[in-house]
Amino acid sequence: MFSQVENIKHKTTGSNGQGCSLDERSRIQVLKAMGIQPWFSKYAAIQSGEKIQQAAEALAVESSSVSNNISELNWQQLQQTISACQLCELHTSRTQTVFGMGNPAADLMIITEAPDKEEDRIGEPFVGPSGQLLDAMLKAINLNRENIFITNVIKCTPPDDRKPHVSEIVCCDSYLQRQIELVQPKLILALGRIAAHHLLVTKETLGVLREKSHSYNGIPLVVSYHPDYLIRKPIEKRKSWQDLLQVKSILKKS
Ligand code: URA
Repeated sequence: MFSQVENIKHKTTGSNGQGCSLDERSRIQVLKAMGIQPWFSKYAAIQSGEKIQQAAEALAVESSSVSNNISELNWQQLQQTISACQLCELHTSRTQTVFGMGNPAADLMIITEAPDKEEDRIGEPFVGPSGQLLDAMLKAINLNRENIFITNVIKCTPPDDRKPHVSEIVCCDSYLQRQIELVQPKLILALGRIAAHHLLVTKETLGVLREKSHSYNGIPLVVSYHPDYLIRKPIEKRKSWQDLLQVKSILKKS
């Protein structure tokens, strides 16, 4: 019987134990399973095909103090740590980090993708048209930003409106994990492919994922469409409404 880490190593090294390059999803699994907060440069080494065992050991040595510390931080310390983070290249282009907003003891935690340019300037998530739609979605189930907590899988804005790189998501993962541990939500709502794929360690389509029940470390998790997508494809709002009703029903029961 393999442990989670051994299982991943087995899958990625082959029977002769020789290392080989990993796909992105496996790399996340390995890092998550080992509880590692990765060092960007070392992560890049894994991407270039360095032996997994060797790279994982290097990561463990260099970053164990970082991830151990993060798992002990309180809310304020976590905010300070995130605001000073330099784990990936995004720190060079940001105005400020975007920690998240709302109630740190909320029953519902919404996790989405990444702050955009305007949010980088203001320091809050969802300030533009997608924020207005999100507010309307929350209002439809009698919620607002004061009684939920909303954050992104990454805390800095990627340049040129691009999607977050996996390496950036992995660098931010212990921050997100600690936020979830501290909020202790009764339900997580993952909006969009990036958040859903990261939290559930899957590549299934959003259409498939939103039809299924999920959990993240024992917390029920609902997958739905990102507000940006709903703005581009308003016809999908009907499905999004079904997801919101599910959210409402799970919160009512919890
Ligand atoms: N703003 C955010 O904070 N997150 C998104 O995913 C999109 C816009």
